[in-house]
Amino acid sequence: MQNFVFHNPTKIIFGKNTIQSIGEETVAYGERVLLVYGSGSIKKNGLYEQVVQSLETSGAVITEHPNVQSNPLLSHTREGIQLAKQNNCQVICAVGGGSVIDEAKAICAGTTVEHDVWKFFTGKKSVKAPLPLTTVLTLAASGSEMNSGMVITNEETSQKFGFANKLLHPKTSILDPAVTCTVPADYTAYGAVDAVAHVLEFYFTSTEPYTPVQDRLMEGLIINAMESCNRVLKRLDDYQARADLMWTATLALNGLTGAGLGKVGFPMHMIEHSLSAFYNVPHGAGLSAVIPGWMRFHAQLHPKRFSQFGERVFDIREGSEEERAEKGVEELSAWFSKVNSPTSLTALQIPENDIPRIAENALTLGKVWRMTDYDLGKIEAVLRNCI
Ligand code: NZQ
Ligand code: ZN
Repeated sequence: MQNFVFHNPTKIIFGKNTIQSIGEETVAYGERVLLVYGSGSIKKNGLYEQVVQSLETSGAVITEHPNVQSNPLLSHTREGIQLAKQNNCQVICAVGGGSVIDEAKAICAGTTVEHDVWKFFTGKKSVKAPLPLTTVLTLAASGSEMNSGMVITNEETSQKFGFANKLLHPKTSILDPAVTCTVPADYTAYGAVDAVAHVLEFYFTSTEPYTPVQDRLMEGLIINAMESCNRVLKRLDDYQARADLMWTATLALNGLTGAGLGKVGFPMHMIEHSLSAFYNVPHGAGLSAVIPGWMRFHAQLHPKRFSQFGERVFDIREGSEEERAEKGVEELSAWFSKVNSPTSLTALQIPENDIPRIAENALTLGKVWRMTDYDLGKIEAVLRNCI
């Protein structure tokens, strides 16, 4: 186990009837609040009224910034920053999934500086004193509710870049599984796939030889994400299953799984971000189209690690190490199909002859993320495994 610092300052309030705490938790940072939300799901399921009532009861003066789209855009983020500056907002409250929370984080960072917010994503500027953020999570997937990351699409350059800074952790996040019961089956599955992907990235990119603590934690989270997702798809308003999926997705990318692993990477996300930048596919759907091909490419190179995965997650014990490694990949791909998440570029109607353009785009993010073990040729080779 390598040395590490694990510090996650986000306060999590989890469970039934916890929404009413959002007012007090937010106004603790100031009365002038920018309320950020998506394209309407919170109005349809009644959450909007609950949040506004709680904020107003706590004395908040609310400015609204609605219509964050899934895979949030730089242009809309810039509008949010202008709104926050014009209204002298002191705190941002985000109500939604990863797209809403990420755009809110970018607004927090961009409101207290004069330069353009995209400079954070290209590594030209670092975050200094962002506005504080509180959140009400409505979809189990990204982990943004308890981490320091944010992902925004620059529609001018077709680049979907992710950036993280420890000052961007939300102050408080409210996780009431009941509000996720209106998430439809497709986005429920894409969310579970995303949580699995966050764990797989660290599981397969860490080069630390012996990590029993992290391995069991990660294998457990992958199993929980799949099992709880299967239960939810049987009954979308199954509160316990929604609760299990929600907490699993939060733990999958809040820094816990990576502690002690040393250097890890996000190669599958590096590639997926180009798919959603060019085709606006749901993040989880893009990931399940890339993961099997990426794993097949690497299983041959690291059969020991992949066979442990197959054995521990799918109880695969028959055959040689290479065979068990391959079988594990096929079992995971079969689960993606079972929950109706696409497992190839073809399934996403992404043409083979677009691979060079996608690879070039992915490499620009790979450079910002300093993923030196990926060049154009390797990214193209992985993508050809995903057709
Ligand atoms: O916009 P609304 O109307 O809210 O509808 C959303 C959206 O259409 C809907 N939805 C959300 N909660 C709902 C609901 N519908 C009914 N009931 C509810 N309770 O679901 C759709 C998808 O929402 P979105 O926020 O886009 O999904 P997700 O949470 O998967 O977030 C995806 C974004 O997160 C980024 C992705 O790249 C993508 O942009 N990620 C952020 C990460 C981070 N900050 O660490 C890491 C991840 O790897 C990921 O990259
Ligand atoms: Zn992800």
